[in-house]
Amino acid sequence: MADYARNRMFFASSTTLMLVVAGYMSLSLFWHDPVPVIWRIPLTILLFIISQTITGMRVLITKRPDLPFLLVRTGGFISSSFMVLSWLVLLRDLLLALGFLAVLLLPCMTGAEEKMFSAMLSIPAELVMLAASLIAASIGMTRALAVPDVKSVEIPVRGLPRDLDGLKVAHLSDLHIGSTFTGKWLEEVVQRTNALEPDFTLITGDLADGTPDRIGTLVHPITELRARYDVVISVGNHDYYSGLRPWVETWRRWGMTVLLNSHREYDVRGRNVVIAAVTDPCAVLFRSLDGEMGAPDVRRALDGADEGLRILMSHRPGQAEQNAALGCHLQLSGHTHGGQFFFLFPLVSRLNGGFRSGLYKAGSMPLYVSPGTGMWGYVPMRLGVGAEITLIILRSAADAGRAEKEETH
Ligand SMILES: [Fe+2]
Repeated sequence: MADYARNRMFFASSTTLMLVVAGYMSLSLFWHDPVPVIWRIPLTILLFIISQTITGMRVLITKRPDLPFLLVRTGGFISSSFMVLSWLVLLRDLLLALGFLAVLLLPCMTGAEEKMFSAMLSIPAELVMLAASLIAASIGMTRALAVPDVKSVEIPVRGLPRDLDGLKVAHLSDLHIGSTFTGKWLEEVVQRTNALEPDFTLITGDLADGTPDRIGTLVHPITELRARYDVVISVGNHDYYSGLRPWVETWRRWGMTVLLNSHREYDVRGRNVVIAAVTDPCAVLFRSLDGEMGAPDVRRALDGADEGLRILMSHRPGQAEQNAALGCHLQLSGHTHGGQFFFLFPLVSRLNGGFRSGLYKAGSMPLYVSPGTGMWGYVPMRLGVGAEITLIILRSAADAGRAEKEETH
């Protein structure tokens, strides 16, 4: 419980934001003709209750760790539908606002526009929006909860020695095991990843949602991941929310490599490969954590590393250009979930330094942002972006040209 108590900021901000959204939606959907006056207050109360599904589910899961997955997914379906409906309401209101503006500015309008406005505000139109939200949430959830396909990406790395050309890195991120995905789902992800026969498997954070006591057995299949040289875990904000110290101790007890503002070096085909990882900026919210678990520090992570190929694992992509300047050759990140819904793409990009999903150039360094292998369980929906198990194949400069064609933004 203590770990969740530290997470009060999440509850406060999500509750407030959703109440504001519900208030706006209520005004827009219910408080106008022809919605009968007698319906307005009950519908408004219902919408305010629905708006708290995300927070409610999180509280419930904290208090009842054995909550059935069916119930969790029902909550996820409600929150996903609410999210799509809010976007449709906003879209309709923007169209109405544009229509009103046109009437004001164009005196030659015929009067037919009033019928159009009435049709857009009618009860059938609002029922259509509701039905569209439910259908979109169903499609988005089906897509989000499936075992993701493998996506192969060739990444050119400047100065990569010929000996390391073709090095295979399986990149997993944002698995969020605990509230949405079953142990069976993770077992299939592990199988598909191992089938790639990677040299390294790198997991860039948000591995668990919940404490080791509660979901340790669900997360345990990660110990079955196999790679020629190593399987490495770095941490994301959700790992802090779930209680970082117990997770790090658990993963290390399981024999996993966990890097926290540190690196490890590997002799690969006679060359030195440095895998480094930083922590997450949300570390500053947890004052009891310092040292290796404190704020991200790339210099500290690379301190003492010999020359060689330097791959940085950083849950968030936003600082990629600065990391390139510090001597990293490739950065792997996640955190964005690819924006999750197409109407959030611009916002998610903006919040993450312009990086959302796929391959980017940050200075001279390639940055790959995974859209996530799993996803956050309280809005388990993807629209316009899929999950993936990423197979990254490194290419030396001479072979690099073809790699940039599809993926680079
Ligand atoms: Fe995440």
